[in-house]
Amino acid sequence: MPSYSFVTDPGMVKELLLERESRNSGGVECLICGTQGSGKTTAISQVAIENKKNFDDVIVVRSSEDCQWSYFIDSKIKMDLLLKEGLDMKLFDRKTGKNIEIDSIFNKIKTYDSGSVLVNKLSHKNFNIVQTTPYAIGNPKQHIQFCLDWLDIFNSLNQRRWDRAVTVCFDEFEDLVPEGVGKKIYDIELSLSGIFRKNRKNDITTFLTCHSLEDIHWRIKKKIRWKMYMRGAKQQKTSKIKKNLADLPTGTAIIEGSKFERFQFYDLGKERKIRAVVNCM
Ligand SMILES: Nc1ncnc2c1ncn2[C@@H]1O[C@H](COP(=O)(O)OP(=O)(O)OP(=O)(O)O)[C@@H](O)[C@H]1O
Ligand SMILES: [Mg+2]
Repeated sequence: MPSYSFVTDPGMVKELLLERESRNSGGVECLICGTQGSGKTTAISQVAIENKKNFDDVIVVRSSEDCQWSYFIDSKIKMDLLLKEGLDMKLFDRKTGKNIEIDSIFNKIKTYDSGSVLVNKLSHKNFNIVQTTPYAIGNPKQHIQFCLDWLDIFNSLNQRRWDRAVTVCFDEFEDLVPEGVGKKIYDIELSLSGIFRKNRKNDITTFLTCHSLEDIHWRIKKKIRWKMYMRGAKQQKTSKIKKNLADLPTGTAIIEGSKFERFQFYDLGKERKIRAVVNCM
């Protein structure tokens, strides 16, 4: 049985990971919720590192302007960038404003024009940092394209027959499936809501984060089997966890539906202050 180095007490039963092992094939999905700074990005990054180490999964990670993948810079596993064709991406040091050469961060830079091309280019060895059309607040057209890009990627991942499991890490999931938006995005959300069942069958594990469960479209939320709460998370109404989660220390989590033991992720250190500027050409 793989051992998870992010568990402070190795004897703790973490049902969601055991579920994956006991089925031996079949993905699991988990939504990690917590307020700003509770340790969500660190947690999802650690899951990516551990799943690579323990299951040797193909790891797919969302890239966004905040460069949350920066927690991987010090990991032994290299990063490949998959950049959608027609996008121009530049990286900047957020402290000094200086430009950072993309080649100095990524092992390889690959381009793709569709989900089916992307899945053929995924590395089985390195992290796959995927930059789609960027999410853009206040730009509905671009937001719709961002959602369509990810729908295409999830569909393409499911069409492929994989010789190993896949883990998708999607930080700030509320960008993709927000509650209370227009009809066009609602229709995409309807399509996305069917993805998790397909993922499970195809051994695709999905880890997602959000600040609040209230921000996630109800149709999607109810399809996600596991909810992991970090500091300040507001439990779902049906939660068996009655305690107030406002005081959980940084990096501490409780899984809904498990035996409710708290566990602690390791601190991966400070996020590197890198910002990406991605323009559609
Ligand atoms: N397990 C941990 N133990 C101690 N400190 C931690 C742990 N995880 C994260 N931290 C610290 O907390 C800070 C915030 O972590 P992180 O970026 O993962 O939070 P977040 O929930 O993703 O925040 P945001 O909502 O702003 O995206 C980091 O500077 C990190 O050093
Ligand atoms: Mg974060």
